[in-house]
Amino acid sequence: MKMNPWTLSVLLLLAGPLGADPDWHVEYPDSFCVVEGSTATIPCSFTHPAGLRVNRVVWGPRVVSNIIAENRFLYLGDLVRNCTLKIIKTVKRDTAKYLLRFETDGGGYTGLRGVRVTVTDAEDVKVRSSVTDNVVKEGGQVTLTCTSACSFHQLDVHWYRNGHALPESGPALHLSSLTNNNTGNYTCSLDSSRKNTSAPWSLVVLEDEGRFDWHLTVSVVAKVLLAVFLLLLVGLVFAKRSAPGPEHEIVYSEVVG
Ligand SMILES: *[C@@H]1O[C@H](CO)[C@@H](O)[C@H](O)[C@H]1NC(C)=O
Ligand SMILES: *[C@@H]1O[C@H](CO)[C@@H](O)[C@H](O)[C@H]1NC(C)=O
Ligand SMILES: *[C@@H]1O[C@H](CO)[C@@H](O)[C@H](O)[C@H]1NC(C)=O
Ligand SMILES: *[C@@H]1O[C@H](CO)[C@@H](O)[C@H](O)[C@H]1NC(C)=O
Repeated sequence: MKMNPWTLSVLLLLAGPLGADPDWHVEYPDSFCVVEGSTATIPCSFTHPAGLRVNRVVWGPRVVSNIIAENRFLYLGDLVRNCTLKIIKTVKRDTAKYLLRFETDGGGYTGLRGVRVTVTDAEDVKVRSSVTDNVVKEGGQVTLTCTSACSFHQLDVHWYRNGHALPESGPALHLSSLTNNNTGNYTCSLDSSRKNTSAPWSLVVLEDEGRFDWHLTVSVVAKVLLAVFLLLLVGLVFAKRSAPGPEHEIVYSEVVG
């Protein structure tokens, strides 16, 4: 019977320490979903009985040791307890169940449960918003979420307004104390290359019309009242002055002249 080295190591392992032993353990998520072309950082940690020294860590089915096996597979962990695996620019064929095996000077162990990594299409990258309307009042807030077939756990999400990169990253973009400056078309992408970018979601921030009208109304009413008052005053003065007749003025001007 022909056997590849991986199968062999699993068989050897089955004869060794089993998962029931609490001293030997590998902790990773059951499944990990990632959109094609983006980066997956799979958290992982392992434990073994005290006093043992780990001399080798192997991720399968692709062998990824602390020496980079394939440029896209990086072991971010160590030989103590961290076995984080990073897969950059994921492709469809990376879809597989990955298992971690570590070997110590007192025996080895494989976390047989494994982590199912699924690489999906990037087609349906979308911006979702916390508001139903694209029009938000000044001072308001909105949270945009970048979604796809995968949940965006630990993904490298980038945000853009009108095509310009925003400093914020991560699956959710929280915009508060909105001003007209926040108006624009928002997109998100799954890696900095912008290859898999969502359709734009447009945000319009409106000036707070309620407050604006109130100010305007007060100022208009005040101006009208002032104008009426001045008009009445002028009218009154004119009425009083016009009573003695223009003769005095003519006489006066004749005197001056
Ligand atoms: C991005 O999406 C396109 C289609 O929308 C797909 O062909 C491509 O493989 C995806 N990934 C990258 C890295 O471009
Ligand atoms: C394991 O290493 C990765 C990469 O260096 C780090 O991001 C992560 O926080 C570490 N995990 C723990 C539990 O220390
Ligand atoms: C909006 O942007 C303009 C120009 O970039 C800037 O001068 C102004 O202070 C900004 N306003 C707010 C409220 O951030
Ligand atoms: C946003 O997109 C809409 C339609 O897609 C377009 O009419 C508008 O000009 C865009 N705004 C900016 C600031 O690019």
